[in-house]
Amino acid sequence: MLRIAAVMLSAFFFLSSNGLSSAIAAPSYVGPEKCQNCHKAPYEVWKGTKHFSSYKKIHKHKTAKKILKAVGEKRMKKAAVCAPCHYTVVEKKGKPKPVAGTSCESCHGPASEWISIHNNKKVDKATRVKQSVEAGMVRPDNLYDIASNCMSCHGLENSKLSGKHASAMLANGHPLNPNFEMVEYSQGSVRHRFYPPDVTTNKKMTKPELSRLYVIGQAAALVSANRAISKTDDSKFVTAQKVRIDKAKTVLAKIPDAAKFLSNPSREGGQALADAIKTKDLSSLVGDQLPTSYK
Ligand code: HEC
Ligand code: HEC
Ligand code: HEC
Ligand code: HEC
Repeated sequence: MLRIAAVMLSAFFFLSSNGLSSAIAAPSYVGPEKCQNCHKAPYEVWKGTKHFSSYKKIHKHKTAKKILKAVGEKRMKKAAVCAPCHYTVVEKKGKPKPVAGTSCESCHGPASEWISIHNNKKVDKATRVKQSVEAGMVRPDNLYDIASNCMSCHGLENSKLSGKHASAMLANGHPLNPNFEMVEYSQGSVRHRFYPPDVTTNKKMTKPELSRLYVIGQAAALVSANRAISKTDDSKFVTAQKVRIDKAKTVLAKIPDAAKFLSNPSREGGQALADAIKTKDLSSLVGDQLPTSYK
């Protein structure tokens, strides 16, 4: 969420420094259908996930109705409290309209300002990557930010969710799984790794890659839980965040490269840690903790 605020700010400065006084171009969602034509394989993978199937089902869930009542809402698809995590909301005729469940842009960033930049082959790759990131794109090689997005939803940390609502949700059966862990949750149904040269194969991660992702995921969990914990003093919520914090600290304490990050956990520190371990094999340190089955 922080990064989105930063993107909004930079869009604002860009426009104002050009002397334009028209609408500020804050990034917005375009919806997964816009990605489909060029990214068939990831799209098909996504269609097999709960992120996709949830859209048609979750509002009918008994628990959903109970939770909605507790936060003073009637319809889940219309409830601003639920939208940031459960729906991809695009603007249609000036009105917000949910068009899908959690989708491409939930993880890769709202695309209105980067969709036509990120694939523009007339611009050299480095420039294009830089521009798309500045416009709010979360790229696959930036696993820390991707993990951080997962955590903001799965750790009930999203800054748009108030402490009062989080507490009411938990009291009425909303899940908060403190054991959400990147490797277990990203290498099953969610995995799409159709990288060149063979773009028809959804590649599995090697053990060193899994080990790095495990560590990066714990770093993102620690920053997320630290940020979430002051949202409310609700005991269920605080207990779950403490479990996340303790687990992450235990794992990271065994990683020499994580010492600096642990002394002051932050997004920048998490990025630096990801960078420091980029080519390292940490499987002798965390290999025995890797999950053996995936969601
Ligand atoms: C008109 C075709 C087109 C559309 C539409 C499109 N993309 Fe892309 N996308 C590409 C191409 C081509 C690349 C590879 C660009 C390159 O070589 O750097 C790419 C790259 C990417 C990457 C980075 C892949 C990597 O390995 O670094 C991601 C993530 C991505 N697109 C997501 C999306 C999402 C999400 C959407 C919808 C919001 C979308 N794209 C819409 C053509 C498209
Ligand atoms: C901060 C993100 C976030 C917000 C806001 C949020 N949810 Fe969820 N919700 C999740 C996540 C993540 C899961 C899946 C958790 C899991 O399976 O561990 C989930 C799961 C659920 C489930 C499934 C429960 C089950 O037993 O399978 C229901 C029902 C639900 N949410 C209802 C709601 C309603 C209604 C709202 C709005 C009042 C809402 N949620 C707001 C993140 C959120
Ligand atoms: C739950 C989060 C999530 C969702 C939803 C998601 N992605 Fe991704 N995406 C990722 C992650 C994580 C990676 C990095 C995979 C890796 O390198 O291990 C990735 C990688 C990619 C890549 C590069 C690898 C490849 O398979 O080509 C593209 C392109 C991409 N995503 C496009 C999309 C599109 C299009 C959608 C929607 C149809 C989508 N993603 C939905 C998380 C997500
Ligand atoms: C915008 C919010 C959001 C983001 C970001 C997000 N998720 Fe989810 N995820 C959800 C919700 C909501 C559900 C539950 C849907 C339901 O129960 O119907 C869910 C469910 C899942 C499930 C199914 C779990 C089960 O028990 O069946 C997996 C796996 C998962 N997410 C992995 C990930 C991973 C990995 C990432 C990041 C790469 C991620 N999610 C990012 C909101 C999100």
